Amino acid sequence: MREEKKWLPIGLENFEKMIKDDYYYVDKTGLISELLRDGGLVNLFTRPRRFGKTLNMSMLEHFFSIEGD
Ligand SMILES: Nc1ncnc2c1ncn2[C@@H]1O[C@H](COP(=O)(O)OP(=O)(O)O)[C@@H](O)[C@H]1O
Ligand SMILES: [Mg+2]
Repeated sequence: MREEKKWLPIGLENFEKMIKDDYYYVDKTGLISELLRDGGLVNLFTRPRRFGKTLNMSMLEHFFSIEGD
């Protein structure tokens, strides 16, 4: 039986809501280890608009935050 398709997170840039409400998410959590390994004191993300910069920041914020689960 075919699995039901997930919703696309159009306009959504809050990582927690995206995961909790089970939206379609392209896994970019590899960025965490990349930053821990090669990150500088300051990191500049140069990408065009709508490339997921804000969502990635939200993902990092939730990973490194000591609050929540
Ligand atoms: N990893 C992802 N998985 C699924 N959708 C994504 C992903 N990254 C971005 N998107 C989609 O693209 C939109 C734009 O992302 P956003 O973080 O606001 O981009 P930027 O800040 O670079 O302009 C989001 O609202 C979401 O719909
Ligand atoms: Mg943005």
